[in-house]
Amino acid sequence: MSIKCSELTKVYEGGHSGWPALRGISFHIKPGEFVAVTGPSGCGKSTLLNIIGLLDEPSGGKYSLNGRNVFTLSDLERSDTRRDEIGFIFQSFHLLNRLSSVENVALPLMYAGAGRAEMHERAHALLRRVGLHGKEKKIPLELSGGERQRVAIARALANSPKLILADEPTGNLDSASSKEIMQMLTDLNAEGITVIMVTHDKELAARAGRNLRMRDGRLEP
Ligand SMILES: Nc1ncnc2c1ncn2[C@@H]1O[C@H](COP(=O)(O)OP(=O)(O)OP(=O)(O)O)[C@@H](O)[C@H]1O
Ligand SMILES: [Mg+2]
Repeated sequence: MSIKCSELTKVYEGGHSGWPALRGISFHIKPGEFVAVTGPSGCGKSTLLNIIGLLDEPSGGKYSLNGRNVFTLSDLERSDTRRDEIGFIFQSFHLLNRLSSVENVALPLMYAGAGRAEMHERAHALLRRVGLHGKEKKIPLELSGGERQRVAIARALANSPKLILADEPTGNLDSASSKEIMQMLTDLNAEGITVIMVTHDKELAARAGRNLRMRDGRLEP
């Protein structure tokens, strides 16, 4: 995915007296890049990622995804793009606790209208791919943090995204699990998926192809 932002700003409604979370962010990410976003707590990293992922709207500036100005997309086009082209991975996994691994992974396939058999086969294949063969029926509480994050990665891959957005994907993991998750993201990137990862971990950031450093709602030069 090609991602072009120019002078993006974000002011949260009801935030402290309109202090902007983003104060003019411009960059271009080319298809197939692996970009790490770093910076102190509160500098706007998650805000930026949510805007890139069409989960939130900027207050000003320009943003185009694969050459399309996202401001011209209808609500339906935005949600279709989110579902079909973007995979999300979060620090706290965001799995549904009552559903098994395989059901969590199948959910986005169901929303995309897949048939039962196809859904079943693909969800199992994705879990094998992330090394969770045999854990298909476990619910999140029966899995380790690293395993939960692998389920989340399998779920993010369900609809074959072109872009993966990961917000502190290793923030709740020990260093061994962190390395495994980073390796998976690196492998996915090698297959051509664009990856944008927010991280506090300097070692992981150094392994990305490029770093965007943020401070107080801006990019550092
Ligand atoms: N929903 C919201 N409503 C109001 N203000 C918000 C909201 N979300 C974030 N903010 C504010 O916007 C600023 C940027 O927050 P953001 O979550 O993007 O930071 P971050 O860089 O991801 O921090 P962290 O590393 O702690 O996750 C902060 O001042 C935060 O308080
Ligand atoms: Mg954050």
